[in-house]
Amino acid sequence: MMDNTIHQYNWLAKFFHWFTFLILIFQIPMGFILVRLDFSDLRITIENVHVIVGITVFYLTIFRLIFKFFSKSPKLMPASFVGQKLIAKLNHIFLYVALLTITTSGIFKKLFNGEKLNFFFFKVRIEDNFALADQFYNIHIISNYTLIVLISLHLLAVLFHQIFLKENILKRMTK
Ligand code: HEM
Ligand code: HEM
Repeated sequence: MMDNTIHQYNWLAKFFHWFTFLILIFQIPMGFILVRLDFSDLRITIENVHVIVGITVFYLTIFRLIFKFFSKSPKLMPASFVGQKLIAKLNHIFLYVALLTITTSGIFKKLFNGEKLNFFFFKVRIEDNFALADQFYNIHIISNYTLIVLISLHLLAVLFHQIFLKENILKRMTK
């Protein structure tokens, strides 16, 4: 009998996944270093890089979700305990939500600061509103901590599969 189930993410899904991972290992620490720096040319440069990289993640996540919608993702591994698939799905959904929340809150913080923002294909500037800018910055911080927790759970899940369930799920995202 033909097995039509896919067990692997396709190359584009893998590219989005690992490219985002690579960017985040630099972008998250960069954000925390940035806010600790005193005002200087270096700080302005780092903030500019942070914003360009952040907007790149924003586009990447949108393209990734559009692409996911139109292509077939592999089915999750058979569950070993009740609710396992649900928590796996929720982890993935919240990871996407966190990426979108971080990037849009960063974008709105800058825009409500009254600063012109370069979206690569067009530029945007709106009227400032510092109270809203502060709110969005709080969201930026909270969603960053949330993302760190979600990535940790995500990594622990991969290790749990490997060590306790003797399932190599990593190869679904690598091979
Ligand atoms: C995945 C993307 C992003 C990540 C992981 C990220 C992460 C961070 C982190 C960890 C901080 C430090 C927060 C703190 O402890 O106070 C920060 C600050 C900041 N981020 Fe992001 N960020 C991202 C995208 C963006 C985007 C798209 C923008 C704007 C377009 C942005 C603008 C800023 C600004 C303006 C600050 C504060 C700088 C300051 O107060 O001097 N970020 N970011
Ligand atoms: C820390 C290193 C990481 C490892 C080892 C890892 C590993 C994996 C593996 C093995 C899968 C496939 C799960 C399955 O069997 O269906 C997966 C899926 C996923 N990972 Fe990661 N990952 C890592 C980091 C990240 C990061 C940083 C993010 C995003 C912030 C992320 C977001 C996702 C998402 C959203 C999926 C679900 C893909 C989909 O079906 O749409 N991962 N990851």
